[in-house]
Amino acid sequence: MNKLKPYVKSTDYVKSPFRYPGGKFYALKHIIPFLNVVEHSEYREPFVGGGSVFFGKKKADRNWINDIDNDLMNVYSHILNKSSIKDFSVLFDDEYANRERHKEIIQMNAKSSFERAFQTYYLNRTSYSGIINKPAWGYKDGKSSPPKNWKNFLLNAHIKLQNTKITSLDFEEVINAKSKDDKVLIYLDPPYYLADQKRAYTNSFVLKDHKRLADILKNTKFKFCLSYDDCEEIRVLYKWANIYTKSWLYNTANINGASRTMGNELIITNYTVEV
Ligand SMILES: C[S@@+](CC[C@H](N)C(=O)[O-])C[C@H]1O[C@@H](n2cnc3c(N)ncnc32)[C@H](O)[C@@H]1O
Repeated sequence: MNKLKPYVKSTDYVKSPFRYPGGKFYALKHIIPFLNVVEHSEYREPFVGGGSVFFGKKKADRNWINDIDNDLMNVYSHILNKSSIKDFSVLFDDEYANRERHKEIIQMNAKSSFERAFQTYYLNRTSYSGIINKPAWGYKDGKSSPPKNWKNFLLNAHIKLQNTKITSLDFEEVINAKSKDDKVLIYLDPPYYLADQKRAYTNSFVLKDHKRLADILKNTKFKFCLSYDDCEEIRVLYKWANIYTKSWLYNTANINGASRTMGNELIITNYTVEV
């Protein structure tokens, strides 16, 4: 049995450059110990969102991040790309955040993937809780780090993202993809089963998706670690796996007011750990 060790920041730790609904920044100390017990040469994250776990964890030899949100993954691609990161990060040197500018950026008609990345990143940094679902974009004053700090976030993320595969696919393709060897670890953070995230993400995740995910994970030969909200339906769907209960601060139930409450969450694995 693998014994969990307390979380220590990895030497390549970077803070996510995004603000993200359901982001796992506050839960890193609970999640990363579950990843550290698995020896792996490839790491996959099919629901990467703002990537708190990818950026917080030590990189593997091979890394693959994915999210169905195409605009979000387009930003990642521009952060990774050596020729676009320089132009991309300086865009924010003289940028400012206020309600009028926010409105202007919403109305901007982005004509290239570069302009789309600029628009998405600006709105991510300045909207309520980093909300990424376009119709719900609303300006949030003063809570986020000012634009002059964004360049550093992006340059740090650029370093961490080197040699990482970036895709925008449905999760099934990422979990089922072949690998060079079987030493693959998959961390999954799907939209919660109960929490109201309808306004948060562009793509909805419904009951049949939760069931589909459970079926695929039941049959995978790779190691996986999954985080979910604690509810009876998820406990039933995963009764064949190992289920651990953790409490951490999360803020998805009330994305509007962004109040943080203590919630019970589950960590579900197909390997055993001693907690
Ligand atoms: C809870 S969030 C992930 C948050 C992330 N762990 C973080 O720290 O920021 C869930 C993500 O799943 C993505 N998603 C929803 N349906 C998907 C699908 N069918 N395949 C892949 N990603 C999907 C959403 O776009 C969203 O970014």
